[in-house]
Amino acid sequence: MMKTYILLSLCCLSAHFVSAYDNGVARTPPMGWLAWERFRCATDCDSAPDSCISEKLFMEMADRMVEDGWKDHGYTMINIDDCWSEKQRNANHELEPNHTRFPNGIPALVDYVHSKGLKLGIYADMGKLTCAGYPGTMGYEKIDSQTFAKWKVDMVKYDGCSSNSSEQAVGYPLMSKELNATGHPMIYSCEWPLYQGGLPPKVNYTYVKEICNMWRNYGDIDDNFDSVKNIIQWWGDHQDVLIPAAGPGGWNDPDMLIGGDFGLSFDEARMQFGMWAMLAAPMLVSVDLRTIDPRVREEIYFKRGVIEVSQDPLGVQARRVKGDNNYQLWVKSLIGGDQAVAIMSTRTDGFPAPYVFSLAELNIENPADTYMLTDIFDDEQAKPYSLTDLIHTVINPNGIRMFRAIPYKTSTLVEENIIEIDIL
Ligand code: GLA
Repeated sequence: MMKTYILLSLCCLSAHFVSAYDNGVARTPPMGWLAWERFRCATDCDSAPDSCISEKLFMEMADRMVEDGWKDHGYTMINIDDCWSEKQRNANHELEPNHTRFPNGIPALVDYVHSKGLKLGIYADMGKLTCAGYPGTMGYEKIDSQTFAKWKVDMVKYDGCSSNSSEQAVGYPLMSKELNATGHPMIYSCEWPLYQGGLPPKVNYTYVKEICNMWRNYGDIDDNFDSVKNIIQWWGDHQDVLIPAAGPGGWNDPDMLIGGDFGLSFDEARMQFGMWAMLAAPMLVSVDLRTIDPRVREEIYFKRGVIEVSQDPLGVQARRVKGDNNYQLWVKSLIGGDQAVAIMSTRTDGFPAPYVFSLAELNIENPADTYMLTDIFDDEQAKPYSLTDLIHTVINPNGIRMFRAIPYKTSTLVEENIIEIDIL
């Protein structure tokens, strides 16, 4: 199996490092597109030719990813979800795509996606049937792994419907082994923890990370803000379990990004994107890229500073240091001693809400005396703050403010003539 040692030295700097699935992929959280939340299991291409699960849909999304600039911002995966296959395996027991909706077959689709410099992911289920009732992989792990490798797909999402927990304890590691045995690196996205309730003692995250590159921990996201808020709450409530599991090669997966669909306001979409970056989550957008509001695309999904937080090579998942019903303060350690800071407000009582905090509240390990703070979403000019200085922010209803805090020595600031500050 191909091994990649890039970033090994960086990842080992992280105090949270847990040994990861050794297939060399997903060293930072995967970015791209996934069909499910937006397009579900639409199979009637006669009545919905533009939104049914078909090769046309995935080719058009690949076109948009390249032509609209997604690829230039790091989004490279195009992922198929459920409902792509025929209802029966072929005479050799192999899965085949639905012939009407994928008339040219998966290898042709893979070629098309690869020709654009993108990657293709596919979906399977470790049980007898997928969640939407298509053939499952149980008993066919070797055949399906070899089929996916032969097709040169780059990622496999492995769902868990139609299986029980003891079958899952066998099936998820077995599929990992069979995928690995093909010699063709594929990101292995497993839903195992979700089907086990997401928490120890049923879930052993050290083991999950040894066999999977990313894993769903919690229920499916829906197109509304409560769904986003519940996921973030769960991540905060269980952070002591989840943070040690995340790192290069293996990621907790709070599910797809939905900003730009129907259910979230602009601020709510910004909050989801910002928080997914803080949580070192896979960034798989499930939105119709052909009709997405360009403002959401450019001012949220293409926000460089947020993507840098998401793709930081240390791969540390953020910690909630403070939270109540209105506000939450989160911090994520970045390379070089930088810190990403997010303040979420879930107030909806009608006005941009003031929030005051200090860097001392973040409990940074070995903190610097002074940090330069840049507002990541609003591109405000950087300002220096000591650990105890009060930082005054104003946050929109259901909104987020996000900062990158860069350690700065007072002497450097003065030498570089950036700023002069009074130090007591
Ligand atoms: C489950 C998964 C979803 C999606 C559907 C497809 O619910 O959690 O992400 O893959 O199955 O049927």
